[in-house]
Amino acid sequence: MAETSGPSKFAGSLNSAMIDGPEAQAALEYAMRFGEPGFEDVERIFITQHYEGYSAENQEAWTTLFDRQMEFLESRASKTYLQGARSIQLSRDRIPHLHGPESINHHLMRLTGWKSRGVPGLAPAKAFFAALAQREFATTIVMRPKESLNYLPEPDIFHDVFGHVPLHADPIFGEFLQTYGKAASATCNPEHIKRMGTLFWFTVEFGLIREGGNMKLYGSGLISSPAESRHALESSDVQRRPFDLEAACTTPYEIDHFQPILYVLDSFDQLRDAMNRYAERILNESSRQHSKVA
Ligand SMILES: [Fe+2]
Repeated sequence: MAETSGPSKFAGSLNSAMIDGPEAQAALEYAMRFGEPGFEDVERIFITQHYEGYSAENQEAWTTLFDRQMEFLESRASKTYLQGARSIQLSRDRIPHLHGPESINHHLMRLTGWKSRGVPGLAPAKAFFAALAQREFATTIVMRPKESLNYLPEPDIFHDVFGHVPLHADPIFGEFLQTYGKAASATCNPEHIKRMGTLFWFTVEFGLIREGGNMKLYGSGLISSPAESRHALESSDVQRRPFDLEAACTTPYEIDHFQPILYVLDSFDQLRDAMNRYAERILNESSRQHSKVA
């Protein structure tokens, strides 16, 4: 999960000790400076998921959310999401492992080469994009407190893994996301960076897709949110517009209430192809920029 306005603390969580140690502190400091000379090694932004840090209450919160959402999603999520969740063996029984033979990464690596890597909190945008460019998804490892099951302003492992990661098992979506990361990493143009942030919002976070004539969910902000997922599909207050990359890069959005405008894909190929064209434009511009400087 990326953010653009500085680090954020996961306050009030039972497992906050998992992101309080020196390893996490060093990773956070490195990520904040990522992209400066001497701070270009993506590996340094990641931390180990010390699994013993999860309490019984954290595990219970995972199972409660998993059961509630999955029951709703079975008939409402994109088949690509549902297939991905099965492929990486996402389980109601426990918070997913990121390391070892039982991990979601064990399956992901085999399927698409993507990996989910632990970070101590919201990753600064540059570091987040650089990780995507090498098929690594910066993943918040802490679990939300039991009293905040329905809403959390910051991502947690439920949002990041349950919400995002199943799509990384799909080759087409996986290609889109890597291309997105490469283009976002390559540009220094603030206009493109702003547009890419908006595109992420309307696709990866809040995207809808049409499958077999029905509207389905795929954006992680919808997939992982019990209330917003219903609103996105059922509310008459929501404008569901056909996906258009230019519109999805420029439509204003606000983060603190349910989305009044959503974009609907015809297929993930459509998203991948549109991103390829946009990435080509960004990469051409940035190589022209570099040759001017040289
Ligand atoms: Fe997200």
